[in-house]
Amino acid sequence: MQTALVTGAGRGIGLATARAFAAAGWKVHALDKNFSGFDEKSLSRVNFDLRNLADIPQLIESLGEIDTLVNNAGVLYCDAYDSIPEEHKREILAVNLEAPAALIEAVSVQMKKRGAGRIVNIGSVAAFTGHPDLWYGVSKAGILNLTKAWAKELGPHGVLVNAVAPGPTATAMYDQLPQSRKDGVMRSVHSGRVCTPEEVAAAILWLGSACPQYVNGTTLDVNDGSYPR
Ligand SMILES: NC(=O)c1ccc[n+]([C@@H]2O[C@H](COP(=O)([O-])OP(=O)(O)OC[C@H]3O[C@@H](n4cnc5c(N)ncnc54)[C@H](O)[C@@H]3O)[C@@H](O)[C@H]2O)c1
Repeated sequence: MQTALVTGAGRGIGLATARAFAAAGWKVHALDKNFSGFDEKSLSRVNFDLRNLADIPQLIESLGEIDTLVNNAGVLYCDAYDSIPEEHKREILAVNLEAPAALIEAVSVQMKKRGAGRIVNIGSVAAFTGHPDLWYGVSKAGILNLTKAWAKELGPHGVLVNAVAPGPTATAMYDQLPQSRKDGVMRSVHSGRVCTPEEVAAAILWLGSACPQYVNGTTLDVNDGSYPR
């Protein structure tokens, strides 16, 4: 049985992704710092706060073999550029960028040894524009570059590193946006609806399990054409 580690799997896109891997017959480590309302018998819980960057190598060691890592956990705060609390900036950079980097570094050791493995990073349409949430946009642009960098490093060892960049998706993260922001986003979505977490999960599952070996270092946009202007 193959094993996936999905971060931020307590709810939203991460939970849908963990369920999709489990439905495909995988063992799934569902990592989160918050499992309130979580009642998933088919997923193995990993209670971990990704801000604890120094503990990530030990975490990966304790989980054993991981065939696919999904770096999904993320945080967003709607702060104006001139009043961004230092702790928000630190948390965004730690959870959205530094933790995925540390997880890739840790898991790449065993994947290189086996000559196989897949990593899927969750970016965002936010990566492609000057974003209203400054550090969120920066972190998402960063993770797409991280994807290309590690694909270059691990490709020769048979390991694929790709990304998914979702557009507006019906989760708690999207719900927190002010209505004016949602209206702006929806004007650029061709279908006039938000994406479901399951649609994003289907793209993650494909990159994390079934996509051809020749797909490496790429970003799959799941945004219904809603590229920011
Ligand atoms: N929802 C959208 O519209 C949208 C659009 C583009 C990209 N994304 C990205 O998709 C990913 C999933 O987002 P979502 O919409 O499901 O958000 P969400 O807020 O519903 O879920 C995020 C999960 O990450 C977990 N998490 C946050 N900080 C953590 C930490 N320090 N340690 C461990 N877990 C932590 C949360 O507890 C939560 O369960 C994120 O990377 C987000 O940036 C979302």
